[in-house]
Amino acid sequence: MSSVKVGLLGLGTVGAGTVNLLARNRDEIARRAGREIDIVHAATRHPDRPRACSTEHFRLTSDPFAVVDDPAVEIVVELIGGEGLARELVLRAIDNGKHVVTANKALIASHGNEIFEHARRQGVTVAFEAAVAGGIPIIKAIREGLSANRIEWLAGIINGTSNYILSEMFYQQRDFADVLAEAQGLGYAEADPTFDVEGVDAAHKLTILASIAFGIPLQFDKVHVEGITQIGSEDIAYAKELGYRIKLLGIARRVVGKGISLRVHPTLVPQRRLLANVDGVMNAVMVHGDPVGSTVYYGPGAGAGPTASAVVADLIDVTREINTDPKHRVPFLAFQSHALSDEPVLGVEEIETRYYLRMDAQDTPGVLADVTRILGDNGISIEAILQKQPPPGADHVPVIILTHEVSERRMNAAMAQIEALPTIQGRLTRIRVEHLD
Ligand code: HSE
Repeated sequence: MSSVKVGLLGLGTVGAGTVNLLARNRDEIARRAGREIDIVHAATRHPDRPRACSTEHFRLTSDPFAVVDDPAVEIVVELIGGEGLARELVLRAIDNGKHVVTANKALIASHGNEIFEHARRQGVTVAFEAAVAGGIPIIKAIREGLSANRIEWLAGIINGTSNYILSEMFYQQRDFADVLAEAQGLGYAEADPTFDVEGVDAAHKLTILASIAFGIPLQFDKVHVEGITQIGSEDIAYAKELGYRIKLLGIARRVVGKGISLRVHPTLVPQRRLLANVDGVMNAVMVHGDPVGSTVYYGPGAGAGPTASAVVADLIDVTREINTDPKHRVPFLAFQSHALSDEPVLGVEEIETRYYLRMDAQDTPGVLADVTRILGDNGISIEAILQKQPPPGADHVPVIILTHEVSERRMNAAMAQIEALPTIQGRLTRIRVEHLD
């Protein structure tokens, strides 16, 4: 049987990794796919630049439209990233009757509903395993391995750059800005690094995970997003003292009788949890389903090899399915397209969780009594309080409070009242706490 012909858009880190992987494991891949897989045409902005892969076995162009319009190409692999041009190219490839493999989380999270609709009309496949958590086959695990379950919640460390920064701040007591510069140098950061540290990249990935877990349309604009830029080294140290680590988590949870909560924010996680111990650029996703219980998936979430591993796995899947009836393929979002649910995505004020609060309080009698009275008046129960020595020369002391579970709406009201006390300086720091049980 002749080989499957692939067109490649983008020859950066992941593109070159994909070329190298297809060459290195060629026989193994063909034995699994049933056919050999050949890249025949590739586009890159600067074809003359030196590459981390050989380019002698395919045509090389600077025009990506030449690849998606090439009649010889059966599968287009999109690795250029971004939303504008990538969306145009993917839609054109689909309308030309080609299957698509992409690692582009922003594209799927923001335009996936439209892209899948085009693909369904054309009877082609769109595969996106590499878009979430790089080398961890988390899409396949949820979509196929856990397909008998009713997923209750999932929580993941799905941005390696921010996890690296938080890990360095924890172990080396380093400053945020200093570590960010190093993370960018390692090549894991997004083209716009604010996507990493402001939680946007994690929100793209959470949007995709939530859709395949709950069978809801992709709704990136409904995710509550907070990044790690406000996390100070003092919070990391106080959290440690209380038995917690601070992680940037993407959380998707069914709230019984209400809807689905989608949020990305720094989170205190008990030190004993596996997720608390995922360090550096590694990713991990915890999925809790009925009846399976809690399952955890861990591995490298970015980089040439891990991401190419997912891209090529998708190429193998598409090759296996290329001649099958589209109606019999695994649905893009795990659930049949006509069976997607319209369960509402809740605003963050609807959630109920535990909280870590840090405030600077005047070191005078009655201050803590005022704070605890406000919490009590708002129905908020305290789990632990920590008061530290004032920094040298300061007349305010840091006070840290851990609360039991309460609604975000009540917590907002209590925080506003505490901030209005004349004995409290500045704003409160609030970090949500998840026990993941
Ligand atoms: N910037 C991303 C990260 C790359 O740091 O995880 C992989 O999506």
